[in-house]
Amino acid sequence: AKEPVRVLVTGAAGQIGYALVPMIARGIMLGADQPVILHMLDIPPAAEALNGVKMELVDAAFPLLKGVVATTDVVEACTGVNVAVMVGGFPRKEGMERKDVMSKNVSIYKSQASALELHAAPNCKVLVVANPANTNALILKEFAPSIPAKNITCLTRLDHNRALGQISERLNVQVSVVKNVIIWGNHSSTQYPDVHHATVGDKPVRELVKDDEWLNGEFITTVQQRGAAIIKARKLSSALSAASAACDHIRDWVLGTPEGTFVSMGVCSDGSYNVPAGVIYSFPVTCKNGEWTIVQGLAIDEFSRKKLDLTGAELVEEKELAYSCLS
Ligand code: NAI
Repeated sequence: AKEPVRVLVTGAAGQIGYALVPMIARGIMLGADQPVILHMLDIPPAAEALNGVKMELVDAAFPLLKGVVATTDVVEACTGVNVAVMVGGFPRKEGMERKDVMSKNVSIYKSQASALELHAAPNCKVLVVANPANTNALILKEFAPSIPAKNITCLTRLDHNRALGQISERLNVQVSVVKNVIIWGNHSSTQYPDVHHATVGDKPVRELVKDDEWLNGEFITTVQQRGAAIIKARKLSSALSAASAACDHIRDWVLGTPEGTFVSMGVCSDGSYNVPAGVIYSFPVTCKNGEWTIVQGLAIDEFSRKKLDLTGAELVEEKELAYSCLS
């Protein structure tokens, strides 16, 4: 039998946490033959709710779940973890300035970076979900210099999956046959959902949709604004789809992407596609042997170029804002 993998979920008493921990315990993240030990972290005001989640995990009698650590102590939470899914953060509340939200999250991610650096298992893989996801991941990377930069990523797989969903609905085909959409840049409304390289079967999506106005307009804005549409409808932000996307992200990273398929991940930019280097930017990637590689050589037309640049500029600006919160 395989040794259990320790998976940390921060913010585990929250909405996404509640959807995510049972998926992990059922083997959806790491495979149906992979035992797991869940580490759940939240803050003291949520300690009782967190304990309730732990009780439910026990009650669900998941065969793969070999242990549960539920704690408000960041060191205990981080100790020995092989995978860290960072969902906890400070949400933007009405009337709050962007800088104030950034400042709260910078301080959370700075301290959690140190705890992971000191206590996580070597080669721990980190996925940041909490917003601003790219910049929280950047802060985590900066303050955990001994964790390889390639191990620190952020979630844009939800946006990627939303793009697959929109194409599938439009063409009235199964979502599983739609492939190779790309989310470029920031997990924010400046992200660029790109279908130039997407296919259904062996046909380009552009040829099948035959409506560039929709692809260059409504399709893009629907994906960009989907989070807001969910909030409007549910009065709560996306949770089950976010949790599912987090499982997809880690599963593909650890177990590999299928041949000929790429997925979107927020990773440290090396300057590929003339994107600013050093920010956490969402790229098309393939994964093999537990490592991601940015897909190279895709043609970028003038329309796409502008959109890649716009979202890149926003990330550079967010980085500056985050740094201004440190001083
Ligand atoms: P939520 O408010 O229901 O849960 C957040 C949890 O984090 C709460 O239980 C809170 O007590 C906890 N928390 C706060 N500070 C913490 C800290 N320092 N350490 C540990 N836990 C802490 O929020 P929800 O809906 O679960 O969303 C979580 C985050 O994910 C938000 O930042 C949201 O914006 C983001 N998000 C990102 C998506 C993506 O695609 N990247 C999609 C949807 C949401």
